[in-house]
Amino acid sequence: MGEVDPAFIQEPEHRPRISYIEGEGFPLIDLAPLHSSNNVSAIEGLVKEVGKACKEWGFFQVINHGVPLEKRQKIDGDSRKFFEQSLEEKRKVRRTEKLVLGYYDTEHTKNVRDWKEVFDIAVEEPALIPSSPDPDDKEITELYNQWPEYPPELRETCQDYGQEMVKLARKLFELIALSLGLPADRFHSFFKDHSSYIRLNHYPPCPTPELALGVGRHKDGGALTILAQDDVGGLEVKRKDGEWIRVKPTPDAYIVNVGAIIQVWSNDKYESVEHRAMVNPEKERFSVPFFFNPAHYVMIKPLEELTNEQNPAKYRAYNWGKFTASKRRSNFQKLNVENLQISHFRISD
Ligand code: OGA
Ligand code: NI
Repeated sequence: MGEVDPAFIQEPEHRPRISYIEGEGFPLIDLAPLHSSNNVSAIEGLVKEVGKACKEWGFFQVINHGVPLEKRQKIDGDSRKFFEQSLEEKRKVRRTEKLVLGYYDTEHTKNVRDWKEVFDIAVEEPALIPSSPDPDDKEITELYNQWPEYPPELRETCQDYGQEMVKLARKLFELIALSLGLPADRFHSFFKDHSSYIRLNHYPPCPTPELALGVGRHKDGGALTILAQDDVGGLEVKRKDGEWIRVKPTPDAYIVNVGAIIQVWSNDKYESVEHRAMVNPEKERFSVPFFFNPAHYVMIKPLEELTNEQNPAKYRAYNWGKFTASKRRSNFQKLNVENLQISHFRISD
C-alpha cells in the first residue's frame, strides 16, 4: 500500500481536516453499577445516561465494562502479529466471493478505497447467511472462518474475546431497552442465533492523510458496535450539529455505537450516526470492532410498543440476512450505485 492510488482519494468535501476537535462532551459512561449488587437508583441513573447518549450522540464510551483487560491485550497483540506478516502470507487466508470471512485489503466505503487491511471472524460457527440477496432464493450458506498459521493461538483468542463481547452487548441492550421504556430482555430473542463478527483493522501509515481515510464516512448497518481502539486515535464521529469530533483514546475503554437496526427498532428515536477513521503519516493504527447482529432470519421493523397513530412506523420490515447479503456484494467491489441503506426501507410521509 505504498503508492497512493487514485482509488483512495476522497472527494474534497469528504477529506479530513488536519486540525481537529477532540472530546467535546463525548459521553463517557461508567458501567460499575452493573457489577455491584442491586443498587436500583444507580441502575436508573445509568439507564438515563445511556438513553441520553443514544439520543444525543448515537455513540458513547464505557469504562468498568467487565471485559478482562488481558483478553483485550491478547487480541490486540495477536492482531499485530498477524498483520506484521508479508502480504503473501496474509493472502493465504484472503476473503473471496465465496469465502467471505478472512483477510481483505480492498474494502471500499462509499466507493472510495479505504486505507486499511482487515481480518473478519464470525463469532458463531458456522455463520448462516442467505446465499444471495434475491428475496425468492431461500438457500442458506454456512460460513466458516479461515485461520492463518500464524499466530497459532488466534482462533482461541478470538473465540474468547467474542464471548466477552456478546456478554457486554447483551448488557448494553438491557440498558437500551430500559431506556426506551421496554422490559430489559426485550431484544434478547433477536440475538438467539446471532450473526455477529469481529473485525481486526490495521491502518498502515499513509503518506497523504489529508486526502485519504482509513475508513470513509459510514453508518454501521448492524445492531450495535463495540470498538476497541489503540492509543493512536483517529476515529471521528459526526456530532448532531454536523461537526466531526475526534474520540479521545481512553485506555481500556470501549466505544459503543447505535447501528442502523436500533434506529429502525426505535423508529428513529436513536439514530445511527456517521463516523470515519483518519490515518496518520507516521503511525500505524489498530482497532477491533465487534459487530453485534441478529439472526439472519430476523425481520427488522419498528417495535410496536414504540409506534402508534401519532408516531407511525417509519420503516417497512426487511430481512436482516438479505440486507447483509446485498451489502456484502457491494462492499466486495467498487460499484457505481449506492450501497444498500435502511433509508431504502423508509416509508415516505
Ligand atoms: C468500522 C469502523 C472505526 C475505527 O470498522 O466500522 O467504524 O476506528 N471503524 O476503526
Ligand atoms: Ni463503523
